[in-house]
Amino acid sequence: MAEVVAGIGVSHIPALGMAMQGDRSGPAAEVFSKFAPVRGWVRELALDTVIVVYNDHASAFSLELLPTFVIGAAKSYAPADEGYGARNVPVAQGDGDLSWHLVDSVIPQGFDLAIAQKLDVDHGLTVPLTLLFGSPPEWPVKVIPIEVNVVQQPTPSAQRCFDLGRAIGRAVRSFPGSRRVGIVGTGGMSHQLQGRRAGHINSEFDRMFLAEIVDNPQQLTGLSNADYMREAGTEGAELVMWLTMRGALGEDVTAVHSAYHVPVSNTAAGMVAIDNSAGAAR
Ligand code: DHB
Ligand code: FE
Repeated sequence: MAEVVAGIGVSHIPALGMAMQGDRSGPAAEVFSKFAPVRGWVRELALDTVIVVYNDHASAFSLELLPTFVIGAAKSYAPADEGYGARNVPVAQGDGDLSWHLVDSVIPQGFDLAIAQKLDVDHGLTVPLTLLFGSPPEWPVKVIPIEVNVVQQPTPSAQRCFDLGRAIGRAVRSFPGSRRVGIVGTGGMSHQLQGRRAGHINSEFDRMFLAEIVDNPQQLTGLSNADYMREAGTEGAELVMWLTMRGALGEDVTAVHSAYHVPVSNTAAGMVAIDNSAGAAR
């Protein structure tokens, strides 16, 4: 039997990945101590596979070819060259059987995923792995990337991303094999990296999001992408991927931990860890 036992929302700020692997002083030290309880909890969950819902930042895709949703169905996923080389992190090993089951189950539910049998993954996926698992020689879990276009308008809505998560949750529960699965939604929290509002931080919105995603995600799926960009900045729109994570979980969930820190680079870092064991047992 396969079950989604946990959901985690977490920022994918490159500076945090760099700091985790190098100089942990300054704001990074504070962020790591705030995130530390989640790392301990995740270790105890003994997950087999982690589905990582993330966005590519012009590393594997460009404006020449930008699918709305992509699922990885490869044997492995190498860290992408992000312009200054690839991050020094392990190659992520795939979970082919579960990936192809997701393909076969999610597409007929009405989500026309592009299927990638070769996919290099950038900081959107690798920084959350570093934040959750540290710097081991190999990642302790298999990885299934789900990539979302949050770059080229029109991007999928928060509601659509949540519904994709529901389809993923149903697919995992119908997998004939045995798996303890975690799902991670990455990106955010509020940030805008360019333009006149560069450095925009809306802590009130971020804290509302961290609270409502646990018990009241409808409050968040009701917001438009323009709402996300106005409130949380242009790149704050990455938060819709946290809703895919939340959609894969049941209604009856428990928040295990949540953390928030401003500023990291000129953005806000957040994390929420949600226990789905009640929903998974149903
Ligand atoms: C930062 C955040 C991101 O999500 C990203 O893709 C790049 C940079 C940042 O906070 O610096
Ligand atoms: Fe990003």
